[in-house]
Amino acid sequence: MRLSGTGIALGLSIAWLALGVGGQPAAAESADAAAGRVLAERWCSGCHLVDAQQLQGNDGVPTFRSIGAKPWTEASFAAAITSPHPPMPTLDLTRKEIAELLAFVRSRAP
Ligand code: HEC
Repeated sequence: MRLSGTGIALGLSIAWLALGVGGQPAAAESADAAAGRVLAERWCSGCHLVDAQQLQGNDGVPTFRSIGAKPWTEASFAAAITSPHPPMPTLDLTRKEIAELLAFVRSRAP
């Protein structure tokens, strides 16, 4: 088969479009935030509303949207989730997981 110049140009621009489209809108969420989302859905969504799509959390538990609006540092955030306050289980999270959760929480801020 012989590819015409137009065919190659077309193929290239489709590839370019696919890269552009695939690489951009979702990338509003950083890699850390995306990893944090997975952790949050697993460990936090039983009580917190972690995302706008989630319909049901627990009454009286701050949403991630409101938590995300607070001026956390990595240290204060780690303290908030690792110092056990009664309804929140003490989770054994690594520093990396805490950083990812914080990235996700920040990405939820209004
Ligand atoms: C068993 C229910 C439960 C789970 C699971 C849970 N939380 Fe909480 N969390 C709470 C409650 C209730 C509060 C509010 C406590 C308070 O105000 O004293 C809270 C408070 C917080 C706060 C402090 C908010 C502030 O404004 O001071 C942070 C940060 C937080 N949670 C993060 C997380 C993260 C991250 C996860 C998942 C890794 C998680 N929580 C899982 C119940 C839970």
